[in-house]
Amino acid sequence: MSNTDFEYTAMNGKKVFITGGLGFIGSNIAHRCVELGADVTILDACLEPYGWNHANVKEIKQSLRFVEGDVRNRQLLTELAAGTDIVFHMAAQVGREISIEQPELDTEINCTGTLNVLEACRVSSNKPKVIFAGSRGQIGEPVYMPVDEAHPQNPTDVYGINKMAGEQYLFLYSKIYDFPVVSLRLNNVYGPRCQMHAGFYGILNWFMANAMQGQTITVYGEGSQTRDYVYITDVVDAFVRVALSDKANGELFFVGSGVETVFLDMVKTVVQSVGRGEYKHIPFPETREAIDIKKFVVTCKKIQDAVGWVPRVDLAKGVQETADFYKERLSEYLRDN
Ligand SMILES: NC(=O)c1ccc[n+]([C@@H]2O[C@H](COP(=O)([O-])OP(=O)(O)OC[C@H]3O[C@@H](n4cnc5c(N)ncnc54)[C@H](O)[C@@H]3O)[C@@H](O)[C@H]2O)c1
Repeated sequence: MSNTDFEYTAMNGKKVFITGGLGFIGSNIAHRCVELGADVTILDACLEPYGWNHANVKEIKQSLRFVEGDVRNRQLLTELAAGTDIVFHMAAQVGREISIEQPELDTEINCTGTLNVLEACRVSSNKPKVIFAGSRGQIGEPVYMPVDEAHPQNPTDVYGINKMAGEQYLFLYSKIYDFPVVSLRLNNVYGPRCQMHAGFYGILNWFMANAMQGQTITVYGEGSQTRDYVYITDVVDAFVRVALSDKANGELFFVGSGVETVFLDMVKTVVQSVGRGEYKHIPFPETREAIDIKKFVVTCKKIQDAVGWVPRVDLAKGVQETADFYKERLSEYLRDN
């Protein structure tokens, strides 16, 4: 990252703890923190069907500590959070349909797991700063756009409700126990190190996997819904900036590109970057249609004003960089290997 408008040196020597650190976003944060000189520990339960992958940290495995464990284990979290400066809480049940089919699982990981992280930080001697991965899923179908931080929350699935609850626990603990927290509500994140074995989340990457393997991409309905796709390096930069800036303390921010992209245009961009691939339209499965959001885009003015963050990578460039990464490494991301 060549951002020159922010002082990143404060990350040097910081003790950083990342839950879900073998996953897509967590591992990319780990790479950046190692690069900036942090002392990094990652935790991951390696649960299926989520995005954990040892290949995600292979270049930095000598420079970090990996612990296989679960955020539902409070005792373990208490041990790991002790003496930590910054906690990036990325571990989650991330499937929207899974959250409806298995609401208890989602609640155990996304609510109790988040409470466990906060409890571990509460008893930690130096009260680490906690950065939470919130979601656009907290909003539901927007009543106005671009969506901003004042927009009401009306989730269409259990995942969105539990992310909303997790965020509320975060701010409650901050208020009662006086430690700094930030919530970043993420839009559709894509890029290198995202899982490529399933289409229930990370759809852009999944379509890229289809195109690369000569499988037809299936688009539900017309593909006219809109989304806000944001590139992983931009998302990592947002996490690092809010972690290092006191101005972000106690705040929640949307992190997106600010660009409203039609779903089908995203598909065409993927096919173009891969250099091959075809798609077909199929009817929406009923369960999906009931929870699908028709239009979505955010404004990132609040995070820009607070920490100077702006998205730097547009969709065409980000998708091309992603394709270049998987042209070399797709086999490492297919589960049956
Ligand atoms: N990728 C996106 O577009 C997006 C959008 C909004 C929010 N988010 C949030 O960002 C965070 C990271 O998502 P991601 O895209 O990197 O997903 P991911 O699946 O790649 O990473 C999540 C990781 O958490 C681990 N995990 C799951 N349950 C666990 C548990 N009980 N204990 C310990 N580890 C556990 C998984 O094994 C996986 O490695 C999640 O909190 C997710 O809800 C992601």
